[in-house]
Amino acid sequence: MESQYAHGAPAAADAYNQDMGVTSPLFPNESSAGQTQSDGLSDDPEISAGTLDDTVFYIQTIAVPARREFDEESRRGQKLFEQAGCSSCHIPVLTTEVHPTRNESSLNNQVIFPNTDLLLHDMGDGLADRRPDFLANGREWRTSPLWGVGLTQTTNGHTNFLHDGRARTLEEAILWHSGEAENAKEFFRTLPAEDRNALIKFYVICNRTASERGITPPGDHLIRERQGRVFPAEENRICKKYSSRVYR
Ligand code: HEC
Repeated sequence: MESQYAHGAPAAADAYNQDMGVTSPLFPNESSAGQTQSDGLSDDPEISAGTLDDTVFYIQTIAVPARREFDEESRRGQKLFEQAGCSSCHIPVLTTEVHPTRNESSLNNQVIFPNTDLLLHDMGDGLADRRPDFLANGREWRTSPLWGVGLTQTTNGHTNFLHDGRARTLEEAILWHSGEAENAKEFFRTLPAEDRNALIKFYVICNRTASERGITPPGDHLIRERQGRVFPAEENRICKKYSSRVYR
């Protein structure tokens, strides 16, 4: 069934259906079907295969904020992030595969800096919802990417973190870590305050916009222009060079 739809369509269709109650050709039944809250209307599917395909394309090509220059404090924070073991799950660098259907340089073999291993981890009792979901048991969560996390207030208008938004700050989000992340959490919790601040600054400040920080790094305008569009190979090369330069 999947092959007639864009790669990634099942995940998008599932989010439409489960998170928003919107039916599509892939999930034609309301998630509430058979329950008293079902609207009982025969208006399904509510979005077409074309709308689903457009949504997938939008998600695949949307750009993330680039990392910015480090100062001394965030450099120190990066070392602490590694020492704490955060980077064993929030792994910094991944390379994307070749896209199965779209032969576009902007999607294939991209070196990206998401700070996630994209894997499920047992995060302990505190975060468990005891609600198995597909391959995840009720204690497992997928490592959140940390790119862009410093812009949550700007883009989403709130600072609620973790899968259910229970943490009001990044510090709180870390302190909820347990299970496989217990040692990393304890390392963080027992650091002096200035080191905790440096660690958080490491992944927050690099995603603030350059103008907020009063810096215009080389290549910056190219990175901003990437937002939501397919860009030529030369610009791609410069952006990639720039990202890896500021990262290390
Ligand atoms: C064992 C793997 C693992 C380790 C080690 C780990 N994390 Fe996480 N992290 C996760 C998972 C899984 C989530 C998602 C949990 C959830 O949504 O409830 C997460 C979520 C987060 C979030 C919330 C992001 C958001 O957008 O909601 C932050 C911030 C974070 N981690 C920072 C850290 C820091 C800093 C460290 C080191 C002190 C660390 N993590 C160590 C797996 C890990």
